[in-house]
Amino acid sequence: MALQNSFVSWFRNSSPYIHAHRNKTFVISFGGEAVLAADFDHHVHDFALLSSLGIRLVLVHGIRPHIDQRLNKLNHPALFHNNLRITDDLALQCAKEAAGLVRVEIEALLSMGLANSPMAGYELKVASGNFVTAKPMGVIDGIDYCHTGEVRRVDSAAIHQQLDQNIIVVISPIGYSPSGEIFNLSGEQVATDVAIALNAEKLILLTEKSCSNPSNGEPIRQMTTTEAHALLQQHPDISELIHLPIKAAIQGCQAGISRVHLIDRTQDGALLLELFTRDGIGTLISCTPFEELRTATLNDIGGILELIKPLEQQGILAKRSREKIEMEISDYIVIERDGLIIGCTALHANPQEQFGAIACLAVHPDYRGGSRGQRLFDHACLTAKKLKLNVLFVLSTQTTHWFIERGFILSDINSLPEPLKKLYNPQRNSKILRRAVE
Ligand SMILES: CC(C)(COP(=O)(O)OP(=O)(O)OC[C@H]1O[C@@H](n2cnc3c(N)ncnc32)[C@H](O)[C@@H]1OP(=O)(O)O)[C@@H](O)C(=O)NCCC(=O)NCCS
Repeated sequence: MALQNSFVSWFRNSSPYIHAHRNKTFVISFGGEAVLAADFDHHVHDFALLSSLGIRLVLVHGIRPHIDQRLNKLNHPALFHNNLRITDDLALQCAKEAAGLVRVEIEALLSMGLANSPMAGYELKVASGNFVTAKPMGVIDGIDYCHTGEVRRVDSAAIHQQLDQNIIVVISPIGYSPSGEIFNLSGEQVATDVAIALNAEKLILLTEKSCSNPSNGEPIRQMTTTEAHALLQQHPDISELIHLPIKAAIQGCQAGISRVHLIDRTQDGALLLELFTRDGIGTLISCTPFEELRTATLNDIGGILELIKPLEQQGILAKRSREKIEMEISDYIVIERDGLIIGCTALHANPQEQFGAIACLAVHPDYRGGSRGQRLFDHACLTAKKLKLNVLFVLSTQTTHWFIERGFILSDINSLPEPLKKLYNPQRNSKILRRAVE
């Protein structure tokens, strides 16, 4: 029974994320190390699951260890400068072989539809191609990087065409120049440029290490790009395994990707935990703060309804239709956290008669007790003041004390202005509270 309950609760809790992610474009990058790991099939099955949930998926893989292994077999040194490979003729040959091999392995795993595989019965289509045009890195500090290149252009229209047909796009860190030359590229760089070109909602970098604060070892759950930049400045010796993904994340965010996630791929199921649970498991990097209070828009109505429906069913909030919220949407403010609406309230103001009513105040149960209710209330009070209202009313069945603790006093129906009196529902028998606007 306990197992059943935890399953039901897990499934219910993940459903808002399933809705939020559907039809969104995610670019996921992972190194060649992930491909070589024994649990790589788990990752690929998770990718397939994301696609089956309607996420438009682009996978960008790395090949660094594969190239090293090949060069090693040939007794040829792997050459690097500033952590960037110098791709000589032999290294390019190895890169071409490795890219082909890894792509085929990924395609094979994504094609698994066997009865005993996690994606039984679900047929996935995969596409790869010449989506990335590259140019040579050239000579830097006197070092000729030979066939190491950088992204020049991404054919976003061609990738979108595939995604529109529910096809997963697999991109190798190889680019072609208009003159037909082949270049070895950095997987992370390709993923970042592809995500920028596609205007992707998320760039997800599966890393070899979790991102924690070097000062105290605490995992970092979220950072703004400013904080991420400061972290790199304060800890120039931070592991390369984290330094490079953070740098890619900053670049991606600054170019307009709203969310970049760094997820330690060595933790089983980390990708699903990050995308479908409340606080995730990885590190989220974004330009704007992770959580913001803002005026609501029509796009928020679905999220507001999802938040208030259970409270209406419990009789805590009065029922209001989608149409009513739609008509009054400019009265609403919301708290958005990583794309989900976790708090809202409305101030219905009557500037002529200089009164206002606070309504529909709600904070998602998982986020209560963190002063979010207070922030919403403070914002409503500030707006009331700006509108030069004299008095605020609130009707409440079960939350009277919350308002009394914030300066409201119990009142009766005669204190309500006519327009509010007309709306009063005696069946709900709500308590009437009032407070002067200060
Ligand atoms: C009321 C509500 C918006 C507060 O949100 P929040 O983000 O938890 O608010 P804050 O963190 O600013 O305040 C938390 C405090 O309110 C108290 N509180 C929560 N619900 C309360 C209630 N019904 N009556 C009295 N106090 C309440 C908490 O105990 C806590 O106080 P404490 O830390 O001293 O124990 C939230 O509990 C909620 O959504 N409730 C259901 C909807 C509702 O009642 N809306 C009001 C309709 S009129």
